[in-house]
Amino acid sequence: QQGERTRLVEAHKIAARFYAEQLDGPEAEIGRRFLAERGFDQASAQHFGVGYAPAGWDHLVRYLRGQGFSDKELTLSGLAQEARNGRPIDRFRGRLMWPIRDITGDVVGFGARKLREDDQGPKYLNTPETPIYRKSQVLYGIDLAKREIAKANRAVVVEGYTDVMACHLAGVTTAIATCGTAFGGEHVKILRRVLMDNSQSEVVFTFDGDAAGQKAALRAFEDDQKFAARTSIAITPGGMDPCDLRLAEGDDAVSKVVESRAPLFRFAMQSIVDRHNLDTAGGRSAALEEAAPVIAQIKDGGVQHESAVELAGLLGIVDEQFVVRRVGKLARWA
Ligand code: CTP
Ligand code: MN
Ligand code: MN
Ligand code: MN
Ligand code: MN
Repeated sequence: QQGERTRLVEAHKIAARFYAEQLDGPEAEIGRRFLAERGFDQASAQHFGVGYAPAGWDHLVRYLRGQGFSDKELTLSGLAQEARNGRPIDRFRGRLMWPIRDITGDVVGFGARKLREDDQGPKYLNTPETPIYRKSQVLYGIDLAKREIAKANRAVVVEGYTDVMACHLAGVTTAIATCGTAFGGEHVKILRRVLMDNSQSEVVFTFDGDAAGQKAALRAFEDDQKFAARTSIAITPGGMDPCDLRLAEGDDAVSKVVESRAPLFRFAMQSIVDRHNLDTAGGRSAALEEAAPVIAQIKDGGVQHESAVELAGLLGIVDEQFVVRRVGKLARWA
């Protein structure tokens, strides 16, 4: 329903302005300190529209009522939730607020970080599913990054809000992030509309070096291979996320990480290779049988061929055409 969407977007626009204004007040000192400690000055915070949700039960609810919004609209928007007595109260209280915009620039939700260790709730609280916010379909930063993504034919996927900010400030203006969920098929659909979707289109997943990050990268491989010919991963040094890295080593370190990316298939191959003993013909053949179907999934013929040749090298198989034929046969049956 068009009217409903318009109302909910309008409520979010007003809420974003309200939170941003609150960031200047005395109560938000803790929020300003958080931003400063992350290396974000006032202008950067403003550029991303960061705000502060005051503590207390219904500051935003009362403000939006004053702007003509009904209690029903407030709960439907996710900005408020129903208290036990059925009355709406603010969902976000005493938190730093990141407005989440859709590709057209409309604010459709918020990511909210707690600022005191002993505050209630998770570290990040996100807008729940609403008629205008579906977490499987939002990409934080896409409104700011879309032009650069189209121009570079490359998108850089990072983990969090602060990482998107750090990347953009460091000159990696193609950075986006999912919001509290894994990168999946719906995100692919959105990116596909922005990328040129040809053999040169590239998605770079940037993760801190931990095991969870690498697993996420391998999972992303499946979804991603269906559209982007080139999927890469970039691993940050010392398990730092891009925000930490920028703080510790500066802007250049962030762009260097992205430059140091390697094709994701190489990581997938390495994890297979690591599980086999390549000193024996049986081990090499078992590794090939596991790895060939993965490469056979690669849509772009040229990239598929390159990858097969590289796999032969990894496995120590001298007859690389043997590997190329094995992959090609699987690809025709796929
Ligand atoms: N996230 C979430 N809910 C949580 C924790 C994380 O939705 N309880 C999401 C947020 O979108 C967050 C991202 O996962 O931005 C990355 O999480 P994490 O690395 O823990 O957060 P950072 O952004 O690094 O936060 P900080 O450095 O402030 O601890
Ligand atoms: Mn619009
Ligand atoms: Mn991590
Ligand atoms: Mn992080
Ligand atoms: Mn962090």
